[in-house]
Amino acid sequence: MQRRNFIRTSCLACLGGSAVATLLQGCSSTYYAQQVQLQQNSLVVKKSEFIEMKKGQATSNMRNVVVAKYEKLAFPVAIFRLAEDQYSAVYLECTHQGNEVQPQGNYLVCEGHGSEFDSKGNVTQGPAEDPLRTFSVKSDKDNIYILLS
Ligand code: FES
Repeated sequence: MQRRNFIRTSCLACLGGSAVATLLQGCSSTYYAQQVQLQQNSLVVKKSEFIEMKKGQATSNMRNVVVAKYEKLAFPVAIFRLAEDQYSAVYLECTHQGNEVQPQGNYLVCEGHGSEFDSKGNVTQGPAEDPLRTFSVKSDKDNIYILLS
């Protein structure tokens, strides 16, 4: 193999590896609740969805956000764990032009035009001017209830 071909091949392999790593990192940052049920007018998500699993075993690490999808909602809902038993629920429709907002750690980013929101849906960076829609949240020993009205 000529030196030039070797360098080109090596560089492409590095770029490909970086792209795959970036994609995997992006995929792993959003956790979707495995079970979302509708009871009366609430989405119900188990608190155990916040426990990080490793090789099928529960770890002592807790997720700070779980995303709940429900077929009758046009956009998912991000449920942030703010403290031991305190949660917020934020509808992931951007108030700027209606793109889907994505969780990034403990805040939200819109890929549309770069707006950012905190874990309670407040705008931290425009162009969006209005906060995201939020829902009241209740919880009991096992479940989190997101009141849709
Ligand atoms: S649609 Fe979200 S920033 Fe424009």
